[in-house]
Amino acid sequence: MSILPVLTRARIGYVFAHSSHLIPGTAVLSLDMFYPFERARRARKVCYALAAIWTLAGLSQLGCRQRVKSPAAAAPAPAGPRLSFNEHIQPILSENCYACHGSDARARKGELRLDRPTDAFAPRKGGPAIVKGDPEHSPVIRRILSKDREEVMPPPDSHKHLKPEEIAMLQQWVREGAVYEEHWAFVPPKKSAEPATARTDWARNAVDRFILARLEKESLSPSPEADRAALLRRVTYDLTGLPP
Ligand code: HEC
Repeated sequence: MSILPVLTRARIGYVFAHSSHLIPGTAVLSLDMFYPFERARRARKVCYALAAIWTLAGLSQLGCRQRVKSPAAAAPAPAGPRLSFNEHIQPILSENCYACHGSDARARKGELRLDRPTDAFAPRKGGPAIVKGDPEHSPVIRRILSKDREEVMPPPDSHKHLKPEEIAMLQQWVREGAVYEEHWAFVPPKKSAEPATARTDWARNAVDRFILARLEKESLSPSPEADRAALLRRVTYDLTGLPP
């Protein structure tokens, strides 16, 4: 390596420092351009090999970074101390149960409606479908957990499957008293407390603080502000669907 000219060494340093931004071709090309003396062929080969290894390492690092991101994006954990019907439970029932236990009387099975509290808590032959605070004695939970193909809900031939975390959420919701909520559109909005954020120089208003808090939770940082032309272009697309 001692025969390498100074300039080349500096250039390798540059490639090392920046390789994660370069594609392999560029790395080799720039080495070539900055190798002025054509002295030792072998030395150059070593440079190529090193640059290629370093670039591959950089690329694989990039790959890792992207892979690390995905698990965080998936599987929302059952959030907070209390589950909300509208936010956590309704989507599960709607996807897996309402086709047969919803508002459509003609499609309804087992004469059971689960989209309204009056029906879900109504006395039935085998007791109400949901017993507030008692998942073990609620047919809804018992049927979901049943190992019997004739009993289990949703029925196997519906090809609907509940994920373990969804079952856990339904159990928690029943344990917490199975509180139904009105459709969100009829619930008067309540002002939430503004979240605290680590960064204090970015947010200009309360909405920004909510966005920043969520970005920080996902370990992301905000993009730089767009220039006025970009903003104009975006709003024009939003409003008219056409370029400005
Ligand atoms: C493809 C249609 C279908 C889907 C989807 C479905 N069920 Fe059912 N369900 C039935 C039928 C049919 C019966 C009546 C026969 C029986 O009891 O097995 C029934 C009965 C029940 C009963 C017993 C009612 C009673 O008192 O006899 C419960 C509880 C129940 N379902 C809960 C659920 C839950 C909770 C879901 C969603 C996780 C669900 N079902 C999804 C078809 C369905």
